[in-house]
Amino acid sequence: MAGPKMIRVAVNGYGVIGKRVATAVALQDDMSLVGVSDVVTDWRAHMVNRNGFLLFGATEENAGAMRAAGLEVAGTLDDLLGRADVVVDCTPKRIAAKNVDAYRRRGLKFILQGGEKHSATGHSFVAESNYVSALDREATRVVSCNTTSIVRTLTALKRTGLLRRARGTLLRRATDPWESHESGIMNTLVPEPEIPSHQGPDAQSVDPDLDVITMAVKVPETLAHLHYWSVQMTREASKEQVLDAFRASSRIALINTSDGLVALNTIKELMADRGRPHDNLYEVALWADMLRVQGDELFYAYMVDNQAIVIPETIDAIRALAGTVRAANESIVRTNTALGIDSALM
Ligand SMILES: NC(=O)c1ccc[n+]([C@@H]2O[C@H](COP(=O)([O-])OP(=O)(O)OC[C@H]3O[C@@H](n4cnc5c(N)ncnc54)[C@H](O)[C@@H]3O)[C@@H](O)[C@H]2O)c1
Repeated sequence: MAGPKMIRVAVNGYGVIGKRVATAVALQDDMSLVGVSDVVTDWRAHMVNRNGFLLFGATEENAGAMRAAGLEVAGTLDDLLGRADVVVDCTPKRIAAKNVDAYRRRGLKFILQGGEKHSATGHSFVAESNYVSALDREATRVVSCNTTSIVRTLTALKRTGLLRRARGTLLRRATDPWESHESGIMNTLVPEPEIPSHQGPDAQSVDPDLDVITMAVKVPETLAHLHYWSVQMTREASKEQVLDAFRASSRIALINTSDGLVALNTIKELMADRGRPHDNLYEVALWADMLRVQGDELFYAYMVDNQAIVIPETIDAIRALAGTVRAANESIVRTNTALGIDSALM
């Protein structure tokens, strides 16, 4: 049973993001995972039972099908919502927005993920940028993986007064690894049809002051995204001053090609060697030795683990909505400690 100060959290949708959120919630000493809800009856739902989490069917019909498949089922989503203070909706794009009415009817606080529109909650969240503005709110949206990385890195530059404008090119993974038998591209590159791509405007939904434009292309791999940025700074700065700006964020990890971290797969392997669940890279992994400063211009590249980067943000968003931790940094440190996010990847 949850202690008196524990935030009771429900996760709706136990897929790529939902299962990572559930694991992360279970690791927090001020949160209790009251259960997860889904619609599937195959191995994915069996893993909920095996991991010791309570499983709920999204509907009576789903719960019945789960029982018929030999699963232990604790009830329906409606039952789960009755046990929670905050629900994190990790269902696929556009399904979550339809659940909002059910959350509101129960007076529940809720978090949506980046597949939904800003208007679905009226607030978009990245902890280091705007934690305080989410305090005690009914709802927020944790922005997408790419947008999270953009806001983290540009906020670090903004805080030191170095940021004038930023222009980025995003190489986007084609699909998530476990689904690569179903979709994904091979032997081609697919540019997004519009410039700017949606991530720049999305970053402005968190921080409207950011002068940012993005372009994106889908690439035939599944590991992670890779970003290249060109930044106009407010003044000339040294490389060390820029690196110090990034070091000030606990969720940007500086890496070096000279350590053998020369490609996305090597960094994922490092996360596996660190024993992180799902080989999660929660940080933006930014190449320090590649970073280049030329007068007042700055150039750098980084990796975004799309499956993992939003997990710490989601944990902070739970605390912000619950209002139990008032200072952003206190929540960030608690989350980082529980997830093993420290100053260096190696
Ligand atoms: N995959 C990523 O890299 C990534 C990164 C950042 C944000 N997001 C966002 O996170 C959200 C979830 O994406 P995902 O990749 O985890 O999706 P997913 O397809 O991997 O998982 C969704 C889960 O929800 C379940 N589901 C489907 N309909 C449901 C319903 N009506 N009720 C309950 N459960 C239902 C599915 O069975 C599945 O287990 C989306 O908004 C997405 O845009 C995804």
